[in-house]
Amino acid sequence: MNPPHWPARMHIASVGISKSCFLFSLAFCSLLLLLIPALQSPAHQLDPPQPRPQMKSGPARQPHHANLPAGTASASRADPAAGFSRSSPVRPEIARAVKVKTSGSRPTDRLNLKDIFIAVKTTRKYHKSRLELLIQTWVSQAKEQTYIFTDGEDKELQVKTGANIINTNCSAAHNRQALCCKMSVEYDKFIESQKKWFCHVDDDNYVILPSLLRLLSSYHHSQDIYLGRPSLDHPIEAAERVKSDGTMSVKFWFATGGAGFCISRGLALKMSPWASLGNFITTAEKIRLPDDCTIGYIIEALLEVTLTHTHLFHSHLENLQKLPVTTVLDQVTLSYGGFENRRNVVSIVGGFSLAEDPTRFKTVHCLLYPHTEWCPKLKSGHNN
Ligand SMILES: *[C@@H]1O[C@H](CO)[C@@H](O)[C@H](O)[C@H]1NC(C)=O
Repeated sequence: MNPPHWPARMHIASVGISKSCFLFSLAFCSLLLLLIPALQSPAHQLDPPQPRPQMKSGPARQPHHANLPAGTASASRADPAAGFSRSSPVRPEIARAVKVKTSGSRPTDRLNLKDIFIAVKTTRKYHKSRLELLIQTWVSQAKEQTYIFTDGEDKELQVKTGANIINTNCSAAHNRQALCCKMSVEYDKFIESQKKWFCHVDDDNYVILPSLLRLLSSYHHSQDIYLGRPSLDHPIEAAERVKSDGTMSVKFWFATGGAGFCISRGLALKMSPWASLGNFITTAEKIRLPDDCTIGYIIEALLEVTLTHTHLFHSHLENLQKLPVTTVLDQVTLSYGGFENRRNVVSIVGGFSLAEDPTRFKTVHCLLYPHTEWCPKLKSGHNN
């Protein structure tokens, strides 16, 4: 295709061009150098880098606390991920979040507590024994954005505390249908709220709000994020009913509801066909599994978004005493054993004895918010 004299012409031309080209590029480079400082700072502020979660964390699970190496217990509070397995997928995000915080280089788009919708699931019979403690402690620090989903009227508690108590009108039974009914109402209320994150906890969870904010700050609410503690060490396998009367087996991870979990708004919106306006109950019936498994099914099996495993969430099913003392306040949720297992509480020492504070929630609360009126005065040296 090329004429035979092509290489020669090319050579002559390039010699002629190269001088002016050199001069031009010199000018261009100096212009760029002048422009760089002017361009840089606004661009940074408009588009802060968002770390991506490690999406393919499925098989790389972490051991439970019981299997932790002994050395982790001495880690200081400066490292919020301390006390957790080195392979924990949440560790780099936390580390980055802390770095970002200390360098103070993200003036815009910072996540605020008011951007998080916190749903607490309870039942009428636990209003006195469990809920009042939560309202007295962590809920008091997040009153506007915390919603309590229950199954009976309690005007007295509502008036006394000013908490957002929502009667779901769901059955008070502790069965799959009743639990899914509540989750369905929680989901709809979150979508309505316009908030950036949906977090669900149970009525025996203490939410350490600064840790929750720190964890969620390392993601963006428009990403597909599903964060929680896997309740099993392997994905659950469920028989999925399909149209033609048959069943198909599906495998997926899910975050245990008893430890709490969070979902970004971006992901929650994608769940809508299977979760909104009563569809959640239909979806749960299709696989005949509880509410938290159904959430996992919609996200992992139907939407193919991976659960980001974190061990910062804790349920009463774990051995809570094993949690290293120095890391307790860096967790996102805590729990307690309750009637069946009174001694299963976090080991933390503070203003209240075990008899005064059997759940340890008041002690944790006073360490986090020492100026609370009912907390022991800071200067008085003796506590019983
Ligand atoms: C529960 O029932 C009451 C009375 O019918 C109603 O006002 C309320 O909106 C219902 N709650 C929900 C979440 O649907």
